[in-house]
Amino acid sequence: MNLENNIEYRSATYSRTTITELMIPSYANFGGKIHGGILLSLMDKVAYVCASKHAGSYCVTVSVDTVDFLQPVDVGDLVSFHASINYVGRSSMLVGIKVIAEDVVHGTVKHTNTSYFTMVAKGADNKPKEVPGLKLENREDVRRFLEAIKRKELKTHYKQELNNQKTRMAIEQELYKLKNERCVYDLKDIGI
Ligand SMILES: CC(C)(COP(=O)(O)OP(=O)(O)OC[C@H]1O[C@@H](n2cnc3c(N)ncnc32)[C@H](O)[C@@H]1OP(=O)(O)O)[C@@H](O)C(=O)NCCC(=O)NCCS
Repeated sequence: MNLENNIEYRSATYSRTTITELMIPSYANFGGKIHGGILLSLMDKVAYVCASKHAGSYCVTVSVDTVDFLQPVDVGDLVSFHASINYVGRSSMLVGIKVIAEDVVHGTVKHTNTSYFTMVAKGADNKPKEVPGLKLENREDVRRFLEAIKRKELKTHYKQELNNQKTRMAIEQELYKLKNERCVYDLKDIGI
């Protein structure tokens, strides 16, 4: 490996990042809860900080996996975004992000979501650039790395399946699957 700074491996500890943000009224939607988009934007920010620290270079967001908002976040909550590198490829890094919302007045803490952002390091030529490997320091690091490999395999499999399904799908033969779904259609409109 030929890295400019000659650092071949970095630990997750080196780049682990937490950003804590106060949820102000302008972040709220009409229902008085915090917009999902605000939370996503802050997750992207913490993923960038964590990845660029590990890579020592500019990074871009390539993919975001499973963002489930488990609980609503309120105005006044202190929300912490904890990010760490779970897996490293050649130029890509999987950043795990855990979001915790804290109501300091009532002393309640809730886990609102966990997501995985794939970030890619780019060089001055704007091409993907090799990043340092990950030094696994404990059992948890190993568990996260192995889980990320599994996640990657599942994603590849899922994409393949979806593509196969798209090419194979004969709407006429699959229409029966809509029988118990909450939709209506007219056979004439779909050309049957
Ligand atoms: C993502 C991007 C860097 C890929 O560039 P490319 O020239 O096709 O390069 P590669 O195919 O070598 O992919 C680079 C890495 O990204 C990974 N990658 C590409 N698409 C991916 C996806 N959908 N999900 C996960 N990883 C992905 C590849 O596996 C590879 O990882 P590795 O180097 O660790 O093996 C390029 O398409 C890009 O710049 N996209 C725009 C990103 C952007 O603008 N984001 C939003 C604003 S920050």
